[in-house]
Amino acid sequence: MAHTIKLSDRVAAVKPSLTLGIAAKAKAMRAQGLDVISLSAGEPDFDTPQFIKDSAILALQNGATKYTPETGTPEIKQAVIRKFKRDQGLTFEPEQVVVGCGAKHVIFNVFYAMLNPGDEVIIPSPFWLSYPEMAILCGAKSVLVETTETTGFKLTPSMLEKVITPQSKLLILNSPSNPTGAVYSENELRALIPVLKKNPHVQILSDEIYEKLVFGGIKAVSIASLDSEIAARTIVVNGHSKAYAMTGWRLGYAGIPDKPLAKAVASFQSHSTSNPNSFAQAGGITALDLGDEEAKKMCAVYEKRRDLFIHLLKAIPSLKPFRPEGAFYLFINIAETGMTGLQLADLLLEKAHLAVVPGEPFGSSKHIRVSYATSEKDIEEAVRRMTQWIKQPAARA
Ligand SMILES: Cc1ncc(COP(=O)(O)O)c(C=O)c1O
Repeated sequence: MAHTIKLSDRVAAVKPSLTLGIAAKAKAMRAQGLDVISLSAGEPDFDTPQFIKDSAILALQNGATKYTPETGTPEIKQAVIRKFKRDQGLTFEPEQVVVGCGAKHVIFNVFYAMLNPGDEVIIPSPFWLSYPEMAILCGAKSVLVETTETTGFKLTPSMLEKVITPQSKLLILNSPSNPTGAVYSENELRALIPVLKKNPHVQILSDEIYEKLVFGGIKAVSIASLDSEIAARTIVVNGHSKAYAMTGWRLGYAGIPDKPLAKAVASFQSHSTSNPNSFAQAGGITALDLGDEEAKKMCAVYEKRRDLFIHLLKAIPSLKPFRPEGAFYLFINIAETGMTGLQLADLLLEKAHLAVVPGEPFGSSKHIRVSYATSEKDIEEAVRRMTQWIKQPAARA
């Protein structure tokens, strides 16, 4: 009889990613020949712009096939430094920059380098599903702060003040947000600063991965750009995946003002994954220096799709989408359907062959998340199928 391996307590406590689970089920249904539309993707449907690919191909041909320094080549660090200066007005030195295999990797490494059992990580909810799991992996405790449509899914100063304890170590800010698409205005961020200043033991991790995907001419603001004391306590995380349609390249980076922390992250990375892919880094430099025009074009397409999706959903009054100002998700309140997110997601997949993500893994059973990083044709067909299964409860039997 095979011997059962006892898993590590750390990993046994972690939930498998439900979003990946739905995508796998949808894929299996497709493999059976079913016409499944998936609105579950967390990645752009665009291909990486050709000139970015070309610079990686050139680097590969020119021998960029070796290890690089663990936290990125000097050249990509300079490109990251230029980017932070240009877009956020932030100044970093190379030893304060860590480039890793995606923002997810970088966030995990920062958590691992700074969190101890008993430390609390304040996570506004709904949240990107990996933050609490990463905190668990580090033995830390996530403190979820529920936000709703009433505050535009944003944390207010009083909500923040209420949850800070002596154990609070890190506050996560994610603007634009996955899953809600909420974008904090400069004033909303400024309002949090006095509370943070009163609590200097709290560091901030600002996950700005959707920074380039904002609508209506607004700009995504980094809290680090608003105040020098706060900047010194803010780890600014960003990455190539969403802005430049480079999810498969696995490139992300952070500016870490605290040099001992940056050194600890680098040391952890050096003993775990080492450097991000050498030729991906070469393409990543081109993206950071020259990719913004392409990012803008993709963003305009997402904005058009957002408007179309919200417009079409008016036909299903029990679905109340939150109007996002960024990213490429609609977070839809489904409370009036009488179902939970999981129930509705199941129904839509089984009956309508439509893959959506239940709100539960993001911290809400009253919502589903749909991605509009997909064609207008699919959005139209998806709403048609939703109309069939949600608007007419009798048809559900
Ligand atoms: C809020 C947020 N942060 C970080 C990431 C990680 O992105 P990557 O590891 O591809 O850079 C994602 C990806 O879905 C995300 O939605």
